[in-house]
Amino acid sequence: MLAEVLEYLDLRPGKTIVDATVGMGGHSLEIAKRITPGGTLIAIDRDKESLAIAQERLKDFSENVEFVYGNFSDIEEISKRLKLEKIDGIVIDLGVSTFQLMQAERGFSFTREGPLDMRLDRNSYISAYDLVNNLNEDEISNLLWSFGQERWHNRIARRVVEERQKHPITTTAELSDIVMRAIPPRFRKFHYRIHPATRTFQAVRIAVNRELEALEQVIARTIPLIAPGGRICVISFHSLEDRIVKWAFRKAAADGAVKILTPKPLTPTESEARGNPSSRSSKFRAVEKI
Ligand SMILES: C[S@@+](CC[C@H](N)C(=O)[O-])C[C@H]1O[C@@H](n2cnc3c(N)ncnc32)[C@H](O)[C@@H]1O
Repeated sequence: MLAEVLEYLDLRPGKTIVDATVGMGGHSLEIAKRITPGGTLIAIDRDKESLAIAQERLKDFSENVEFVYGNFSDIEEISKRLKLEKIDGIVIDLGVSTFQLMQAERGFSFTREGPLDMRLDRNSYISAYDLVNNLNEDEISNLLWSFGQERWHNRIARRVVEERQKHPITTTAELSDIVMRAIPPRFRKFHYRIHPATRTFQAVRIAVNRELEALEQVIARTIPLIAPGGRICVISFHSLEDRIVKWAFRKAAADGAVKILTPKPLTPTESEARGNPSSRSSKFRAVEKI
């Protein structure tokens, strides 16, 4: 949803913009072109490898871009450290990038065999392996329900606990196979092209990276940092994220801090969704600081 990001950020030379999820720098590159000369882009990511790729991609703009390895929930600290006087706009494009999904050794994908890792920040302590092998059955069941809305959460949790008594669950393929065997046979087919392990993998990844907590924090902490007229744009990928964004924006609007620019979230066009099927569920919301 690059077009929406560029339009709603209302970019002009001289502006200070934060790309809180730089990934491989797709959004950042287009933002940098539009805020130079004179502007500043703060490009944040929790993933050092992605940051390095983005840095190379944006090397023509190195004087205008500040790369930050960190969690966007630390936006207050980051803005203090960089002595930002004002922020004119921020974009938060949630989830994992294709680059991260494609690397089997990161353990994000059930279609590529790799270690059960799923850490966005490879320096953080807790991995998917730790959660899957150490939480008790109730905890796993709750996690699958709360972060994946997985209807077979009880059956999958039971199966995980049974299997790990034989030996630790170490790979994405093992976890995916456990999910397949835990759900009733008639649900083992792909439903609407969605793999049956999708929700389990989403839930574990959200828990490993404490993604919903970080999202709540970044919105609450960013609003006071934005200059009047500045914009906050968020692209979410599933309903749990979108719900957090929607309610955080509604609350800020009720408090008189922002004006909602997208009463209904924007979604990808049919051709965008065809070109990039994983974007099908994404939702774009934006507010303007009053
Ligand atoms: C969907 S990708 C962003 C793609 C990017 N907009 C582009 O154009 O290439 C999401 C990125 O956000 C990063 N990320 C997710 N949660 C984060 C957080 N709490 N703090 C910083 N970066 C985060 C991920 O590591 C990933 O690189």
